[in-house]
Amino acid sequence: MDVHATTGAITNLFERSLDVLNSLRSRSQDGQRQQRLSPRFSITRTAALVGRSAAAIRDAEKDGRLPAIERTSSNRRIGYTLAEINKMRELFGTRPWRVAGDPLAVLAVQNFKGGVGKSTVSAHLAQYLAIQGYRVCLIDCDSQGSTTALFGYVPDLDIEEEATLYPFIRSAEMGSLAYAVRETHWDGLYLIPANLKLYAAEYELAARIARGGPQLLNRLAEGIETIGDHFDVVILDPPPALGTISLSVMRAANALLVPIPPTVVDFTSTTSFFGMLVETMQALEAGNLPINLSWMRLVATRADEQKSMQRELMTLMRSLFGDLMLRTSIKDSAEIDNASARLMTVYELDGPVTSRETYNRCMTYLNGVNEEIETLIRLTWKSQEEKLRGEGVL
Ligand SMILES: Nc1ncnc2c1ncn2[C@@H]1O[C@H](COP(=O)(O)OP(=O)(O)O)[C@@H](O)[C@H]1O
Ligand SMILES: [Mg+2]
Repeated sequence: MDVHATTGAITNLFERSLDVLNSLRSRSQDGQRQQRLSPRFSITRTAALVGRSAAAIRDAEKDGRLPAIERTSSNRRIGYTLAEINKMRELFGTRPWRVAGDPLAVLAVQNFKGGVGKSTVSAHLAQYLAIQGYRVCLIDCDSQGSTTALFGYVPDLDIEEEATLYPFIRSAEMGSLAYAVRETHWDGLYLIPANLKLYAAEYELAARIARGGPQLLNRLAEGIETIGDHFDVVILDPPPALGTISLSVMRAANALLVPIPPTVVDFTSTTSFFGMLVETMQALEAGNLPINLSWMRLVATRADEQKSMQRELMTLMRSLFGDLMLRTSIKDSAEIDNASARLMTVYELDGPVTSRETYNRCMTYLNGVNEEIETLIRLTWKSQEEKLRGEGVL
């Protein structure tokens, strides 16, 4: 046997890799921690986000309805945090929250393949919705913990197995999922993190289902119900395989977003994903666990328009899927790559890593995709009807 392939050697490799991640994380946080803790927005952007004029905000600051804004030593305003923006929304009554009767949006970002952009889409969507003022819970259901990492954690160093979905899925006695919901440095955005140990839940659940029946696939849905009142949107980032966790995610979801890079390989595997999805839906239905989706969309991800083959596939996908495809697609971008190398999203960067042009373009399509999804969510809320009509959406 090759000595480099023994369990001991691989354990050693794992540990040394964790060390590297540890120092990578320290590097991305030190000195930037402040900024990481609170992304800031200019007064112009703040006014747009709050839905009131800058003058109205200044007036409220002057007469004490809002706290005076912090200034630098040179007396310059340092911008507003999301928490401050949310206070303004509260004061002006412009919070976009759902009301009683509007269903909690539970969105699965799913495709049974890895590397298609599920975690990237999930994290950017969650942060976009938080910026808009929604109460969001992002649930990392993948033991690889990519989404958890995008929040600055090294999953296998920073996250205890008790802090993940695992205890709730393992034990029928646990009454609420609230123990796992943690604050993030984004006001209004909460995270249930994952780590490698969640992988065990996959097997345990399979074994218990073999003995006790498919009802156990309902466990995640039950858990979400215990925390749902606190949120407008729950985003589920599942593992890239059709296992018990993915099935639980499908069962819990009421909306589905399928990221698909426009390559032949990804198109092929997404086609089989649809085939598996149909079988899954039928099997769950037979077990009295129907999947009820209020909407479903595909989104092209990691698209490279320089490549003629990808352009052709995009055209094919558009004609094949029609309105099922989001109008905006996410291009392959050095900004996304660079942000994730810093364990961050593009929304957290305080400026371009590459060029202003690349950064702006990237922001435009990220916002475009996320805004389309926001609208789809609002369309499920009766309370939004009038507003959507005013916007010409309905
Ligand atoms: N639009 C994009 N442009 C550049 N890199 C991307 C883009 N989307 C994803 N990536 C990178 O591709 C890798 C896989 O993406 P990820 O979101 O983790 O996929 P999944 O969750 O489907 O496995 C990550 O390193 C991520 O940073
Ligand atoms: Mg992922």
